[in-house]
Amino acid sequence: MAILVTGGAGFIGGNFVLDWINHHDELLINLDKLTYAGNLQTLDSVSGHPNHVFVHGDIGNTELVGQLLLEHKPRAVINFAAESHVDRSIHGPAAFIETNVVGTFRLLETVRTYWLECSPVRKQEFRFLHVSTDEVYGTLGPQDPAFREDHPYQPNSPYSASKAASDHLVRAWFHTYNLPVLTTNCSNNYGPFHFPEKLIPLVILHALEGKDLPVYGDGQQVRDWLFVKDHCSALRRVLEAGQIGETYNVGGWNEKANLDVVRMICSLLDELRPRTDGISYAEQIRFVRDRPGHDRRYAIDAHKLEKELGWKPAETFESGLRKTVIWYLEHPDWVQGVTSGSYRQWLTSQYHG
Ligand code: NAD
Ligand code: TYD
Repeated sequence: MAILVTGGAGFIGGNFVLDWINHHDELLINLDKLTYAGNLQTLDSVSGHPNHVFVHGDIGNTELVGQLLLEHKPRAVINFAAESHVDRSIHGPAAFIETNVVGTFRLLETVRTYWLECSPVRKQEFRFLHVSTDEVYGTLGPQDPAFREDHPYQPNSPYSASKAASDHLVRAWFHTYNLPVLTTNCSNNYGPFHFPEKLIPLVILHALEGKDLPVYGDGQQVRDWLFVKDHCSALRRVLEAGQIGETYNVGGWNEKANLDVVRMICSLLDELRPRTDGISYAEQIRFVRDRPGHDRRYAIDAHKLEKELGWKPAETFESGLRKTVIWYLEHPDWVQGVTSGSYRQWLTSQYHG
């Protein structure tokens, strides 16, 4: 038995791979293009593990993916591979269309060709699990109910539009070709191995380096935070027991305004690694120009997953954030490895351009 994971050198995919190898005795093929967001250091602890095979490649490479499917005959494909950063999608949307839309289309077609040739038993047990985002639903007003699975798709950024397109393709491959798909739409993740262009790791590292902590606009935008290990347990559960063709929202019931998140990180650092001058890290907070088209609020209603599949997150935001801050304090080598020249160029163009 085997599974094929795409994007398993990224933040969520990497955490998923590490957890999977610890929970299952099954071969995992990890296909990743190693863009700026993919990092083999994340996989150090499973390098050389007999159940982990890393393959450097693109989900859009039908020949390579077709070969991998024929060789390993996986019972499932879990698609994490994507361009994932909203700010980058505003600066350069082309890569988002290429991977998230065209890449997902090519992957679906390659998987369909493989699936059609499987034995009847294999065909029945096969699953294609597509990992998506709550951002496809658009934005909420302060009093609106949280996103349920039947909320209309109203994406507002090039990133969320490209993910919405990929979700539609996955849906169509189920309805038209009967490909056994599952889709998850989850809220903002945080935790270990998070690339420091995203809010939480960026603030932790900027604080420690004595840099400004950039808060977009008024900092009152709300995100619903999910600890990455809770996301991984939800994905394992959906893969195991999800109904074919269904979508499942995954969220942590942790709505927080960005400014509050930044202040919480500052307080944790004040406690765990106080500044030598005794001043709070909160002094480094700076309000900066807002993101164009910035969605005001995301919130996930995760009742379906809870009721139908019995999944619940294990972490509160307070416990998960503490673990995350401690992880970054304890892993300076990983941080140094990912904050390469191209990462520094991004920071300069985004925050000082
Ligand atoms: P990430 O940017 O950290 O990692 C993406 C990985 O995909 C990288 O390792 C990259 O090298 C790889 N990749 C990119 N293009 C590829 C291609 N064409 N072929 C093969 N590999 C490719 O992203 P993440 O935060 O781990 O997100 C994983 C998935 O979860 C994405 O689909 C994203 O849309 C979704 N998601 C993320 C969040 C979040 O908060 N991070 C929330 C909801 C949904
Ligand atoms: P981010 O981590 O980029 O995730 P997403 O855009 O997918 O929600 O951003 C989370 C929130 O934090 C979002 O509302 C934008 C805001 N933000 C800042 O205020 N400052 C920053 O430097 C970054 C990267 C994000």
